[in-house]
Amino acid sequence: MKQQLIFLLVGVAKVLSLTQDQKACSSRFIELFSQEAFKIQPMSVYANLTTDICFPQITNIQHSLKPTICAYQGLFVIEYIDKLGVSFPEKIRAFADDYCKNIQEAMNDKLQLINILNSYQPDYQNYTQKCEDYIFSHSNMWFDPTKPSDDITIGVMCEAYQELFTSLKSYNPALKYEDAIIYTYAFIYQTLIDRYDMDFLNVCVDSQLQANPEDYCNELMSKIDFILLNEDEEKQLCSVNGKKMKKRCHDIDRVESEQGNNISPEGHEYCFPCAFTIGYMMHDYNYGVEKQIKDVFIAFSKKATGILKDASKELQQKQDKIDLQKKLEKSQLTSQIQLPA
Ligand SMILES: *[C@@H]1O[C@H](CO)[C@@H](O)[C@H](O)[C@H]1NC(C)=O
Ligand SMILES: *[C@@H]1O[C@H](CO)[C@@H](O)[C@H](O)[C@H]1NC(C)=O
Repeated sequence: MKQQLIFLLVGVAKVLSLTQDQKACSSRFIELFSQEAFKIQPMSVYANLTTDICFPQITNIQHSLKPTICAYQGLFVIEYIDKLGVSFPEKIRAFADDYCKNIQEAMNDKLQLINILNSYQPDYQNYTQKCEDYIFSHSNMWFDPTKPSDDITIGVMCEAYQELFTSLKSYNPALKYEDAIIYTYAFIYQTLIDRYDMDFLNVCVDSQLQANPEDYCNELMSKIDFILLNEDEEKQLCSVNGKKMKKRCHDIDRVESEQGNNISPEGHEYCFPCAFTIGYMMHDYNYGVEKQIKDVFIAFSKKATGILKDASKELQQKQDKIDLQKKLEKSQLTSQIQLPA
């Protein structure tokens, strides 16, 4: 009872300590997500979150960097608010307040980390150590994480950052800080997106998907949920890409039956219904999200669009190399994602 009271008081103190500006931000946030629009037009909610709420809330930063920060933060915000599900009504205020109160600090912490990461030199001695110390001793906010998943240890995350910056710097030793920011945000977002692949492959059964691509895929979607798509768009994604998978597997079968045993084992292609389908779906989804991010940029600054395009192209090439999940065992240090109390 006493403990509850203390929690309550702390809760009240936290709300009271919001500035006028932050309160206004929080109200707009709650209003935006309370609308039915979040289900029907998640992309539009995302766009308004970045432009109407995030953008005015961050200061002390070069104007041209705001779109990057707001665009990528927004993806995490949407992700977490979507996860609230039925607890939305009682939890939304805590998330709104937490976001509006801490957005500036989270961004500052992230930018300082990027500063450290961008100081990378090929002969740098204690690079990952510095990175680990920094992440360990700073905030890891849900909407602007330095380590986007609790499953990833700090050691693994810092190694991944090192790989990212090693390749960025080998490509361009004088990498600008502004570009380092874009690469880092895009890279962290990629870990969020990779989760869809894994979730899908974890639950998907090849034989069932092959037997009934569309219905089975829709069934999976009810568990996985691509946050920036509404239900119809998810169905569309399943339908189009289930057909694509069917065709590819059919072609593989045909080649095999035509050529019989004459194909060498290396030349053999196999049908992997789940992997093919999620591969196609992610391609389309990423395309949609990139388009949306670009719209955010256009809303702010046309100049930055090109940088993001280059950044995401660059990252796509690097993505194969940087496989976070394979190194999960590396360091056991962890820092949890910080959610509102
Ligand atoms: C987003 O903002 C635009 C322009 O202010 C408005 O017309 C639209 O209804 C908003 N969308 C949502 C989902 O709030
Ligand atoms: C790296 O760390 C070691 C010990 O922790 C220290 O002696 C050394 O000076 C550091 N090197 C650099 C380049 O900071």
